[in-house]
Order: sequence, then structure tokens, then C-alpha cells
Amino acid sequence: MSNWPAKKIRQTFLSFFESKQHRIVPSAPMVIKNDPTLMFTNAGMNPFKDLFLGLAPVEFPRVADTQKCLRVSGKHNDLEEVGHDTYHHTMFEMLGNWSFGDYFKEEAIAWAWELLTRVYGLEKDRLYVTVFEGDASEALEPDNEAREFWKTWVDEKRILNGNKKDNFWEMGSSGPCGPCSEIHIDLRNATERETIPGADLVNNDHPQVVEIWNLVFMEFNRKADGSLEPLPNKHVDTGMGFERLSMALQGKISNYDTDVFTPLLNKVTALTGIPYGESNSTDIAMRVIVDHVRAVAFAIADGQMPANNGAGYVIRRILRRAVRYGFTYLNKKEPFIGELTAVLSQEMGDSFPEIRAQADWVTRIIREEEASFLRTLGQGLGRIETMIEEMSTDTLDGAKAFELYDTFGFPPDLTRLILKEKGLHLDEEGFDKEMQQQKERSKAATKLTTDDWVVLEEHGGKEFLGYDQTQTESRIVRYRKASAGKKTFYQIVLNQTPFYPEGGGQVGDTGTLTSIHEKLHVINTVKENGLIVHICEQAPENPTAVFEAVINTTSRTHTAKNHTATHLLHQALREVLGEHVAQKGSLVHPDYLRFDFSHVAKMTTDEIQQ
Ligand code: SER
Repeated sequence: MSNWPAKKIRQTFLSFFESKQHRIVPSAPMVIKNDPTLMFTNAGMNPFKDLFLGLAPVEFPRVADTQKCLRVSGKHNDLEEVGHDTYHHTMFEMLGNWSFGDYFKEEAIAWAWELLTRVYGLEKDRLYVTVFEGDASEALEPDNEAREFWKTWVDEKRILNGNKKDNFWEMGSSGPCGPCSEIHIDLRNATERETIPGADLVNNDHPQVVEIWNLVFMEFNRKADGSLEPLPNKHVDTGMGFERLSMALQGKISNYDTDVFTPLLNKVTALTGIPYGESNSTDIAMRVIVDHVRAVAFAIADGQMPANNGAGYVIRRILRRAVRYGFTYLNKKEPFIGELTAVLSQEMGDSFPEIRAQADWVTRIIREEEASFLRTLGQGLGRIETMIEEMSTDTLDGAKAFELYDTFGFPPDLTRLILKEKGLHLDEEGFDKEMQQQKERSKAATKLTTDDWVVLEEHGGKEFLGYDQTQTESRIVRYRKASAGKKTFYQIVLNQTPFYPEGGGQVGDTGTLTSIHEKLHVINTVKENGLIVHICEQAPENPTAVFEAVINTTSRTHTAKNHTATHLLHQALREVLGEHVAQKGSLVHPDYLRFDFSHVAKMTTDEIQQ
């Protein structure tokens, strides 16, 4: 075991900045719920965006933390690299120290150097730093200030210039930004270092010459129109890749050889019988799986369930990618990835209690997701094989890729990946077109179209007698034909009615409307512009007759009981968990009730029992 186990590396970082008067704060969630421009935290600075912009009050001017980040979409997207190389990840930890209008370049640079070389003891002659060279098109000066501060500590030939792409950091297309100085490390052996100087390999995608820390000097706000506006104050945002730092301190040449990942890899070996290091293809698969499970497990622990759209679909895509690697390369036809959650909980639970508190739940969700994709994966892979055999060009037709998506649940990036392994491509435009068409079809299928009302009486239609009565004598005041997709039904409005219209989470009443001529079955009751609308499958043949409107009392009684139970449950939750429990949604049905609520953690068995 190295002198620098991962837990000690993390703790040393935080203690170092605590000794420099920084307040240590916990990681913010990785899943972002209320920012339309961002689904996931993709940099340590996201949670502090408003502090940089001067929109939120600064409570502590100096802060340090380790932040869970996910880079799988938008400006910062590393997904394709993950597993194929040894130093990119979907989820990673970013160690950060922050100054909100407090210290600036001089201290940030001095402390970074002190921590890396004196505390962690990294060799100075393996380190390189970069500074922003300026950019004429944006009228940005070279960062000579940072260069001067670096010169105090670093030999000048190790200070390199960097362009806007590498040395001007931006969160996204808008938001706080500024020039940055990166610290790179050369982990190659002596012979290699003698042959090619490390300076030539900085920012050149070399797996052993990698960036470990980025110090951003926040000075500007990029506005939506693309212009730069100076911020009211200057700030420091630093981000150090925890997994890469661990590689450097543990003397490894791959992040996956550190104890951040070895416990996970050992577990995969235990579950598959395949040792890490056996072959290139099994190694890639194992790296993909241990990387992806972290992203998926932590996202679920943060409250993001896998789903068919939005952030939930990103999580589903990542997991399906992992499942396919396990299926094809590790021969796993049964769910197994969920089992890795226990390892995450053990290794990371001290720093991230949310994963420990919810380990069982997360395991279960992952297992169910795996099982559901495994039901169609084998068939889908067979189908794509046939498609590939039948291809006459090197590009798979968009409609075919759509079939894989629609029938077998293949996210397009999975199809793209399988094609890429054979040197083939996906017709992206064609696929997008098919997607669009499907969206329009499903919109058409659920879109309600209605004929004009047949009006028998001008007034009435809002009177609800159902609190006291379960049946009344009624007249039809208006009705019309309606359809949704292929289904046709009739909407009937009565002068007075005992039928409860759907609302407040309670389902609408069902029952019958009976006259001497006919009996109409009410399958649901809804409210529309104040009118109580009874939905029937048949048209009234004699609409002017007198009807006996009778609700299905068994259903109604059950619904009423479930409604009462909902209120009791809400009160019980407040008593057991606390006043903060807020209702997020509810459904009251004759057969069951559903109550959605917010709470900070998974409920314990004991709390559920209470
Ligand atoms: N915001 C910078 C980055 O993400 C430094 O924290 O690299």
C-alpha cells in the first residue's frame, strides 16, 4: 500500500486549506434541479456561480471542498474517452479551493505549489505550469501577472504559454470565466523523459503527461451575446482532479491502478471471474464499468432516477453503455453492476454519506435497470449484426438506428459505439429526423380533438351534488364527440351531477347514466373550464330524456378512504421525519394511493415502521 491512500490524499487537501483559513464545505449534489442551462455539476465552481457573479452574499470568503462532477454533456463532455484511456472519467472528484473576492493570483499560486511539492512531496522536475498567452480577437492581454508569480517558485523553462482553448476557462456558453494556469505532471520513466522533453507533451493527450490542477482567476462574465463584462470582484476557482492526483502520488500510470478504483475492479473480477490485465478488450470493459457505476450510483443517490428523457436519460444511457460492455466482453448476461454499490459505499461513504445512507436503494434501482435492458440487449445485438452485414455503405441508415432505439432500447450513442468498433458510422441526421417524427406521432396520438358542442340548454353544468348524494335525476345540457388518436368517445355535461371530477390528485368517478331508452357508461369524469364533463364510450341516442345519474359507490368509498389516508400519511411523515416533509404530488385511486414527498435521506426501516 502506498504512503498516500486516496482517503489521506483527500483529507490532506482539505486540512491544508483549513490551515489557510478556508471553510470546509460538503460537496453539493451532482444533479442540478433548478438551472435550465445545466443538468449536472460539471465543475467544482457550479455551486458557487452566483457568488462569482455577485448575485449571492458571501458567507465565507475562503472555502475548500471536494465536489462530485459529471462531464457527459454540453461543453465539457468526456464520455467517448472513458475506459479507452486511463485518465478520463464520467464522474470524478474535483478538489477545490475558493476565494470569493478575497485572495487572488499570488496566494493561489504559492499555496498550490506548497501543497504539491512540500506537503504531497511531488518532484518539482516532473511539474509544468501554463499561463494564458492572451487573445487578440477578444482584446485579452497575456497573463504576465501569473507568470511573474510562478517565477518565484518554478524554473522559467517549466512555465509554458497556453491558448484560449486551454488557458481561458469558461463554464459554458455564458457565465463567469477568466484566464487560468494549469499544472501538469510528467509521470513517464527516466528513459522516456530523456528522449522527449515533457514540455513537448503538455496538452497533447499523452496518458502520462496530464493536467492535475487548474487555477482559474475569475474576472469576467461571458454574457449571452458573447461579450465579456468585468465582474464586480476578482475570485479564485481551482480544481484538482482527485483521481489523477492519486495516480501521481501512488506512483501509478493509470487512474484505474489507484485504490480509488482497485476495490471496484477486484469486485468485478469476483463477479465475472476475469482478472484485470487479462486482455485489452476486457480491461476496457472493466474500466468502463467501474467508471460508469460511480456516475450512475451517485446520480441515483442524488435523486436522479434513470428515465426516458432529460437528466434521467443521460443516466440510463451511461448505465446501458456499461451493461453492453459487460455483456459483450465479460460475458455477463445477468445483472451484476448494482453489486458494486456496496464497494462505493464502503470506500466513499465517509466523504459522501449519501451513498452509504442509500446503498440498498441504489443497488436495487441499478439492478432493475440492468435487468430491463438485458431483456432486449441480446436480441438487439443480433439485429445490429444483421444490419451491419446488409450495409452497402459505411453509414447505418437513420431509420435502422431508430428501430434499435425504439424496439431494443439502444441509445444512439450505444449504436454509434458499436458501429465505431467496426469502423462504421451512424446517419445522425436521419436518426434525428426519425426521432422528431416519432415525437410528432405521439403528440398526434394523445392530442384531443373535439367536435362542436351540441347545446341543449344554455346554462348549467357546474353543479356538484356528490358530497351528499350518490345518485340524482339529471338532464343533459350539452354533449359532443371527441377523439384522441384512434379512440372516440363522448363528453356529456349534466345540469347537476353526483360525479366527482378528477382533481386534487383524486381520480374522477365512474358510473352510469340511465334513461328509459338507454344506459350510458361513464368511464371517467373531468373538469373543463368549470364544467363537469362525463366521459362515455357511447353517444346519447335520446339526449333530451331524463337520466338517473348513479356513481359507482364502491369505487367512490374506496377512493374517499384513500384520500383520507393520504392526509393521515402526510401528517405521520411530518411527525416522524420532521416538518420539512413537503408534498410533491399525490394520486388517490380506489385501489391505491401514491404520495410523493421530499426528504433529505432514504427512510430507515424503523422510520417506516413508525
Ligand atoms: N473551473 C475550473 C475547472 O473546472 C477549475 O476548478 O477546471
